[in-house]
Amino acid sequence: MTSSAQTILMCPPDYFAVAYVINPWMEGHFADTDKDLACQQWKALHDAIQPHAKVLLQPPRHSLPDLVFTANAGLVLQRKAIVSRFRSPERQGEEPHDHAWFAENGFEVLDWPQNIPFEGAGDALFDRGQDLLWVGHGFRSHPDVAMLLKRLLGRRTAALTLIDPRFYHLDTCLCPLAGGYLLYFPAAFDAPSRALIESLVPEALRIAVDEDDALKFCCNAVDLDGAILMNGASPKLQARLREAGFTPEIIPLSEFMKAGGAAKCLTLKLVEK
Ligand code: ARG
Repeated sequence: MTSSAQTILMCPPDYFAVAYVINPWMEGHFADTDKDLACQQWKALHDAIQPHAKVLLQPPRHSLPDLVFTANAGLVLQRKAIVSRFRSPERQGEEPHDHAWFAENGFEVLDWPQNIPFEGAGDALFDRGQDLLWVGHGFRSHPDVAMLLKRLLGRRTAALTLIDPRFYHLDTCLCPLAGGYLLYFPAAFDAPSRALIESLVPEALRIAVDEDDALKFCCNAVDLDGAILMNGASPKLQARLREAGFTPEIIPLSEFMKAGGAAKCLTLKLVEK
């Protein structure tokens, strides 16, 4: 089934590299990515998305190796966009390019306070079953982001505290799926956040993954028409997803994992209602 309704932003990996270390995955991988392999892997993801969604490309930029991770360009709702304010200086050079892209592509760019880090759809994910925006903080985005987004977008938000530096963005450990399912790694969250998740999502819809699967970035998944594109997942998790009516598709993204990103990080859904 094709849902021509979705459009996804990607950025080709022409200048992708591990050029600095701002998360634990990047440690020991300085200049260690295989360029050809990265291009092949990115293209495989791109080709897997194409039957389900239109893909738009953001121009890659020299010296901005993490621009490939378009999930961090900003957060989109309808035709409005909030452009990311990166915590680390290494990524702040992306902001003017992200701003220009949204403005040139018909989005109304909303004002965001200068001093409040917010890393876009990396830390803010719309639930697919209820009117709710999940917002992560603890490593990158500021703790006030959930409150600010609620005010700015008029959406109910649930603020979740991340506690494991390997899962520094919310989209590395939580993925809302169609029908209100929630794929997530509970140990990445503090106890009150786990309790909040349990109070908002019925048990039958919670797909909690173990550490081995979480470390494959199974939660960093792109869900489109029931297909779930992901870097890796155990046969057991794949069976659980099939049972729930989804079709997992494994697309190895080893080169991007060295930078701390996988399928979802490399995409931004531009159609959000
Ligand atoms: N190297 C990038 C960083 O640490 C990876 C970003 C991954 N993006 C994401 N949405 N999780 O910022």
